[in-house]
Amino acid sequence: MCGIIGYLGYREAYHILINGLKKLEYRGYDSSGISIINKNGYSLFKTKGKVNELEKKIYSFKNKLTGTVGIGHTRWATHGEPNDINAHPHVSNSNNLVMIHNGIIENYHAIKIILLKNGYTFNSKTDTEVLVNLIEYIKYENNLSLEEAVRVSLNEIIGAYSIAILEKSNPETIIIAKLGSPLIIGIGKKEFFIASDPIPFINYTKNVIYMKDGEMAILKKNKELDLRKIINNHKLNPIIKRLKINLKEIEKGEYKYFMLKEICEQPKTILDTLRGRLLISKKIICINGIESNKEKFINANSIIIVACGTSWHAGLIGEYLLEKYTRIPVEVEYSSEFRYRNPIIGKKDIVIVISQSGETADTLSALKLAKKKGAFVFGICNVVGSSIARNVNAGVYIHAGPEIGVASTKAFTSQITILTLIALKIGKYKSIISDLSYKEICKELSLIPEKINYVIKYNSSIKKISNLLYYTNNFIYLGRGINFPVALEGALKLKEISYIHAEGFPAAEMKHGPMALIDKNIPVIVISPLKGSYKKMLSNIQEIKARRGKIIALINKDDVQVRMLADHVINIPDTIEELSPLITVIPLQLLAYQIAFLRGKNIDQPRNLAKSVTVE
Ligand code: AGP
Ligand code: GLU
Repeated sequence: MCGIIGYLGYREAYHILINGLKKLEYRGYDSSGISIINKNGYSLFKTKGKVNELEKKIYSFKNKLTGTVGIGHTRWATHGEPNDINAHPHVSNSNNLVMIHNGIIENYHAIKIILLKNGYTFNSKTDTEVLVNLIEYIKYENNLSLEEAVRVSLNEIIGAYSIAILEKSNPETIIIAKLGSPLIIGIGKKEFFIASDPIPFINYTKNVIYMKDGEMAILKKNKELDLRKIINNHKLNPIIKRLKINLKEIEKGEYKYFMLKEICEQPKTILDTLRGRLLISKKIICINGIESNKEKFINANSIIIVACGTSWHAGLIGEYLLEKYTRIPVEVEYSSEFRYRNPIIGKKDIVIVISQSGETADTLSALKLAKKKGAFVFGICNVVGSSIARNVNAGVYIHAGPEIGVASTKAFTSQITILTLIALKIGKYKSIISDLSYKEICKELSLIPEKINYVIKYNSSIKKISNLLYYTNNFIYLGRGINFPVALEGALKLKEISYIHAEGFPAAEMKHGPMALIDKNIPVIVISPLKGSYKKMLSNIQEIKARRGKIIALINKDDVQVRMLADHVINIPDTIEELSPLITVIPLQLLAYQIAFLRGKNIDQPRNLAKSVTVE
């Protein structure tokens, strides 16, 4: 993961780098550092902890960091614990090269042994320090320019990287390269910005180049950008795109945390997902990516959904919807598992990859494997222009707007919304869904934002329950049918931001083992709308009550029976079963938020996690 930033131009680099790092902290925040070229060589500061610790350290040294060329990094450690020494930038043995890196050098150990034999020494435990010294070694051994040494070294590397390098003896240059991890160049007038995403520099320029895998670039003061292929040094024509980002979308506004803002935005973000796609007056659904590949979807042998974390949970809901409305067999796989088990897929299979960030390394690798095996790969992404979005055969953006909180919320509901539209569209093509149900679902879908609004507005019971339970250390979440994945998602949200152990189960599975966990201390959150397996769920609740478990139930207004059994209830508006996850997940997001808040956690940046998981 990690966030990378760099600047080369005529402005003071320090503020651009520090402020940029703050915007990139969602990518990693266990340590950070910057280096700026100055007339004596370069200054370098790095420290364990967040970017404000770095600021304090720089301030306490009373150093004025001047200079117009520099790089910065915020880390999510893969090799070596988060401490001052392992923080980036890393410096080569001669002190001439300074480098930041996002990714993993898989063959770093073998290279390190060679370098040690050649007299190199290492301060840190990182793979990054090995790479910067490999570049130095190759440069001096072969008397190469820095760009050539970088290129030759990268051809020796197995793994993933985006890197930026400064050279003391070449103070007006930054060399950057990318394979696997994201890297974007911002093009200003006589200035260049680089970053892992464009947000840190959109105040300065909206003209960007999304670097492709296997590319490197040489940025020099007052020179045109020089873009090349790492493998053969061929010069490339940079393709400049114009970004469309609304700055308001990336500010917290009146909210204390982005996560709460993003939960509350869901009525709007679902509308944005539906905009132009669900044409309610004409009762039609338009999704270009599906329409232009109609035959492929109609004739598909199977659909395999591949994703991680919350996106994987959305995929599980997609499985219910797609199988129900299209009768195409669907499998849902963790990207990381799919990739390494030689899956049986071919030309008549469709692989749907779901990713909020569009940068998740496991999902990106799974996508590439599926393409290699001849499958048609369809993407569902939020971040426009992201690596996954650029690599799929076709796809659709969910248009949920930037999601900053590490715990995914609004992306989840928009992913489910899109999956519903896709399932209905293919179901209609295949004449599996009746006109009547199609119209009914479309109509109900258009009412969902208002129903979510209701849950967000009338949330006093969630606050009350959180106050009673926030000190508890274990939670169980139960759902059935299409709400089973919601139970998994509710448990994940709680784990991520409050560090409470929580597990989600299909309610009927309790008796096959997990029931042994039940006693009077364990809260059991039960998702129990009146539709679907309500009656079966009622029995499952009885079984837990008989063992003195504490029931917190999500129920509809007209429910009498669960209301009587439960210790606490959260009322949710009624809807049709297939759309219920869009509503049932909202109180679970709010509950997780509220509990984490009462426990005093850093909700937007939970420990050990990062928003964009660009390492495998
Ligand atoms: C969700 O709250 C998580 N932080 C995480 O599980 C996330 O959903 C997962 O890493 C996948 O990310 P993506 O959707 O950006 O690919
Ligand atoms: N592998 C490098 C390190 O551990 C970079 C980590 C990353 O990109 O997350 O420092």
